[in-house]
Amino acid sequence: MPVFDLGLQPLANDFAGPDEAHSGYAPLRVMFCPRCTLAQLSVVVDPEILYRRYSYVTSISETMLDHFQKLMSLLSGETTGTSVLEIGSNDGRLLQYMQSHGMRVCGIDPAQNLCEIANSMNLRTVCGHFNKETARSTQSCFGSFDCVLARHVFCHVDNWREFIESLSEVTHPDSIVGIEVPYCVDMLNRGEFDTIYHEHTSYMTVQAMDALLKGSSFRIYKIVRFPIHGGAIMMLLCHRDSQRSTDESVAAYLKEQVTTQTWSEFSALARTNIEELKKFVSEKVSLGSTVVGFGASAKSTVFINACRFTRTQIRFITDTTPQKQWKLSPGTDIPIVDEGAILRELPDYAVCFAWNFRDEIVAKNTLARSKGVRFVFPIPRLEIV
Ligand code: TYD
Repeated sequence: MPVFDLGLQPLANDFAGPDEAHSGYAPLRVMFCPRCTLAQLSVVVDPEILYRRYSYVTSISETMLDHFQKLMSLLSGETTGTSVLEIGSNDGRLLQYMQSHGMRVCGIDPAQNLCEIANSMNLRTVCGHFNKETARSTQSCFGSFDCVLARHVFCHVDNWREFIESLSEVTHPDSIVGIEVPYCVDMLNRGEFDTIYHEHTSYMTVQAMDALLKGSSFRIYKIVRFPIHGGAIMMLLCHRDSQRSTDESVAAYLKEQVTTQTWSEFSALARTNIEELKKFVSEKVSLGSTVVGFGASAKSTVFINACRFTRTQIRFITDTTPQKQWKLSPGTDIPIVDEGAILRELPDYAVCFAWNFRDEIVAKNTLARSKGVRFVFPIPRLEIV
């Protein structure tokens, strides 16, 4: 049944220049299954369109480095193995970290531009979507892996069964698989509606994953929670007949209930967040204040389009990613500029659309704040810092 609807929306990472064609709009509507508690988008945009101009690059940030450290220590506690395959390895940032810690690494990613970056740094990366065919060819070139990691990839996958079946091709009986997903329960409780966009085809609960794995050769044996990206869980999988005992975390997560009521409360909270930011920005602009955006995240596209902001309200959005700079925020006429613009322009307010990096952003903008720029965090509830 439908539980959340933002209508027709642009693709969140479709950053195009003023003269470039953009990829158009698609419905952004979430359907919920009360039986297995899985939530999915009502339509799946063709991956060829969705990822053809992919500008998401794993953020180079203290928060991310800290997360990599946590992942590394989790893995070394779980396996003595030293080989890792990362599915959705992006530009190889995590592989590079793991390689520098003595791991034998390999990546697979569909974005040609990002594979080239990774390979140029000697991080072996296969270009393609993870499926039976690429899994087999990766295995025949590089062998099986002690550990397979898929961070924030599973929610992009439409054919789950093939994904899980393909894991058998690249693992051996003692391998572990770490699937990190945004945790749906955290998203719902905090009203993080801006993490709903076309790339995220599903919103994962542990019950839904458990139901999917029922017919497969894998089972969840442990779940670890991380604060990254507004709340994520790493589900650790092993082969069904592995000797590994099932950690008590699995039963605890299986108890967390998501119902139609949870989604309807979330929907109301999302509407409140949208109305609050709209009201805040239009009041400030009508009083003559300048408002800009900070962080052209995919979330910024969702929030800005839900609020129907234009350049009159949000003058520009700063972002450190060169691929996004001098493009327009999808669906709007708002330009993306370099981060130095904050100090050059000294706006009155910078609405932070990368709220998941809040502590880091507040800390690194001490100078701008001392010069009067106020940072506005719209999630979980509007707050000015
Ligand atoms: P991110 O939250 O990683 O993901 P998503 O696009 O899935 O919502 O995106 C954060 C964006 O914010 C990314 O484009 C980099 C940018 N950013 C800055 O410009 N400055 C910063 O200090 C930080 C932490 C991020």
